[in-house]
Amino acid sequence: MRELPKVELHLHLEGAAPPGFIRGLAAEKKVDLSGIFDERGHYRYRDFPDFLKVYEAATSVLHSPEDYRRLTLAVLEESAAHGVVYGETFLSPDFCGGRDVGAWREYLHAISEAAAEAERVMGITLRGIVTCIRHFGPEKARETALCAAETAGDWLTGFGIAGDEKMLAPKDFLWAFDCAREAGLRITAHSGEWGGPETIRDTLRVLDPERLGHGVRAIEDLALVDDLAERGTVLEVCPGSNVALGLYPSFRAHPIHDLDRRGVKVTISTDDPPFFHTTMTREYEELHRAFDWDEGQFRRIARQSLDAAFCDADTKARIAKLLEG
Ligand code: ADE
Ligand code: ZN
Repeated sequence: MRELPKVELHLHLEGAAPPGFIRGLAAEKKVDLSGIFDERGHYRYRDFPDFLKVYEAATSVLHSPEDYRRLTLAVLEESAAHGVVYGETFLSPDFCGGRDVGAWREYLHAISEAAAEAERVMGITLRGIVTCIRHFGPEKARETALCAAETAGDWLTGFGIAGDEKMLAPKDFLWAFDCAREAGLRITAHSGEWGGPETIRDTLRVLDPERLGHGVRAIEDLALVDDLAERGTVLEVCPGSNVALGLYPSFRAHPIHDLDRRGVKVTISTDDPPFFHTTMTREYEELHRAFDWDEGQFRRIARQSLDAAFCDADTKARIAKLLEG
């Protein structure tokens, strides 16, 4: 499972930070973050709102482009060790320079240079997707979209929204999404993780994303499932994240298998792997155990994921060869 070549479309860069890496930065900067770790040194949180708080506390020690350069290398080393050959990561000008375009450019430069180094050394390719953070509100989302629009290009390929899905509505973020779309960025949106089918319908109607982050609660409305299959909307499914956060009691109870059988384009990702004690290898192993998914199924899903990637055609063709290997 570890060796199978993988494509991961849904990974939050800060959420992928190994706890030891964050503890090291906290020590360097003399910031007391002991409250966010348990006795074994893992991130500690009670539920989804608390997870978001711990996530933001961990992120608070990432102060500079250099910190993000080191973070990107640490994250890509881990991804490459689990067979990921192509990944897309969520980035946020909220955490990288406080939505100031000049500062954001410096962070983005450091991150994309680290990605280029990882590509040379480890053979893993990365692209970036800017996300606004829903619970930070529409005004900050507008500033975030402006940062994204200024830096859209070969490396920064997409725009999305993460954060607390229970707060505000898709229409509150329409300006930000229109701004990003006009700049040529491809669109994804977290929806259908904590919100039900109506939230997903609203997201599709208002923001018209090509991909949904999670989207799994569509299974509660089979007409919506048929709609997703017909539109070809791609779901960035993160089964281990959903189980760890209590959305489903087990992998076996997760709807990814049903969604796939009903013709929805599903993909497999880890979301925030150390928070959820997961890796791409573990996701594959658990899916194999729960649904008897075999190598052919995983290869088909990797190819489906690459088709849904936001990178240019030349990059896709190069990665396609790696998937065949
Ligand atoms: N940010 C990081 N992980 C997230 C998740 N699973 N849902 C929403 N926002 C997030
Ligand atoms: Zn996510």
